[in-house]
Amino acid sequence: MTPPPVRSICCMGAGYVGGPTMAVIADHCPEIQVTVVDLNAERIAAWNAPDLTCLPVYEPGLDAVVARSRGRNLHFSTEVDAAIASADMVFLSVNTPTKTRGVGAGQASDLRWIEACTRQVAEAAQGHTIVVEKSTLPVRTAETVQTILSASQQSGDGTAKSFSVLSNPEFLAEGTAIADLESPDRVLIGGQDADALEALAGIYSQWVPSERILRTNLWSSELSKLTANAFLAQRVSSINSIAALCEATGADVKEVACAIGTDSRIGSRFLKSGPGFGGSCFQKDILNLVYLCRHYGLVEVAEYWEQVVSLNNWQQRRIAKLVVQRLFNTVAGKTIALLGFAFKADTNDTRESPAIRIAKDLLEEGAQLSIFDPKVSTEQIQRDLGVPPTDGDSSWKQATDPVLACQGADAVLILTEWNHFNSLDWKAVSSVMRRPAWLFDTRATADKQAALSAGLQVWTVGEG
Ligand code: NAD
Ligand code: UGA
Repeated sequence: MTPPPVRSICCMGAGYVGGPTMAVIADHCPEIQVTVVDLNAERIAAWNAPDLTCLPVYEPGLDAVVARSRGRNLHFSTEVDAAIASADMVFLSVNTPTKTRGVGAGQASDLRWIEACTRQVAEAAQGHTIVVEKSTLPVRTAETVQTILSASQQSGDGTAKSFSVLSNPEFLAEGTAIADLESPDRVLIGGQDADALEALAGIYSQWVPSERILRTNLWSSELSKLTANAFLAQRVSSINSIAALCEATGADVKEVACAIGTDSRIGSRFLKSGPGFGGSCFQKDILNLVYLCRHYGLVEVAEYWEQVVSLNNWQQRRIAKLVVQRLFNTVAGKTIALLGFAFKADTNDTRESPAIRIAKDLLEEGAQLSIFDPKVSTEQIQRDLGVPPTDGDSSWKQATDPVLACQGADAVLILTEWNHFNSLDWKAVSSVMRRPAWLFDTRATADKQAALSAGLQVWTVGEG
């Protein structure tokens, strides 16, 4: 018997995953009413803003997708209970950051938001509800979710309610979220209830080819998400470790990456050396994996994965050190321009951005930072740096364009690979800098010859 079709979806969490994912589902499934709810009223107001440039998440193409469905079958609301009550399917897409205190602090995921959502679903749901874990979670979290839901299978009015739990981790990357959601390498669904599983598969099959919809058990699905992020981050740490060796030996990491990437067993993607990986998930998910391994007594496995994060911390720190060394071992009172503050191009997200660590280290040395990023706000930079624009000897300010950021600077650091920086007018930049002037290109993205011809000294990550 085919399961009843899903007519109404509620997604708890209107963040970088909940918002874009639900917008794409609503776009492809006009017969399903999709309501994205959040406790953060400001965020919901921004999703509802008439001006689509004010959406709380910047993603290329997102505005057009939202414009097609918003008000038709895509809704953003703070009425959480009402949205749960009318939903056949509820996605849990809330934050799962690393715990900052208590048992497992610094490694384990903080599951308080997932638990709060689950309790609210248990309370407010009516009839049969499929609960989908969209957040990235430690393996076996579905057991907890199921236990909380099972404890409340009787409604206040005496009618029975029931639940099925699925795991459906999200693999989108920021900056390419819409393309990733439109054409995913795979959609992964883990679960025991075949009807629930097919109901969710049926939604994705509106636009995803059936061979790309993978079905597994719950635990494989939960663990695959952590594993995918660990493997991806491991590649970045691997290439960054080789970049340092290239710099020491005269090899060029771009050539090495190209040479190894042509081996089809290795593949060419995710081999770009940079200032270290950032983003809200790689570090958090690996640390969670490390915590789980220790919990299960797999100490050697935990230590193996921990190294991926250690190497990343080292890479971020060595960039700031190297800048100080090249600037005659002091940056006190010197202006340094930072181009890019987001953790990667095409997003306004700065969570765990390497720019934050590098900026903090330079401020600690007494530098005056001039920061340009096309999408990150001054308020966000202030939150990330944790200091007002002037703080003792050091200071920072935000510039409105890259050349202005370099005014009077001794050095310019490219920290995010925004397209804007590939075609900078290095003559114009050089003319406003103090000599000797340096370019530190941590993304190997600038036109090095043009910068050299304009009189800059150039350091590029991974170039010997
Ligand atoms: P986010 O912080 O941008 O959004 C989470 C939202 O959930 C916030 O707006 C918060 O207010 C809301 N929220 C928290 N508790 C709530 C509650 N009880 N009811 C309603 N709303 C509530 O986080 P995100 O980046 O969207 O990530 C969400 C999850 O998806 C995380 O587990 C993350 O690891 C995973 N993930 C993220 C990405 C990414 O690119 N950001 C990609 C894949 C997976
Ligand atoms: C990553 C994964 O790619 C997604 O599949 C996953 O869904 C997501 O994490 C998540 O779980 O949150 P995201 O962090 O948005 O996506 O972006 P990535 O493109 O993976 O980049 C992560 C970091 O690695 C960035 O700082 C980026 O600059 C860096 N990176 C990436 C490199 O330094 N070199 C590379 O070759 C690739």
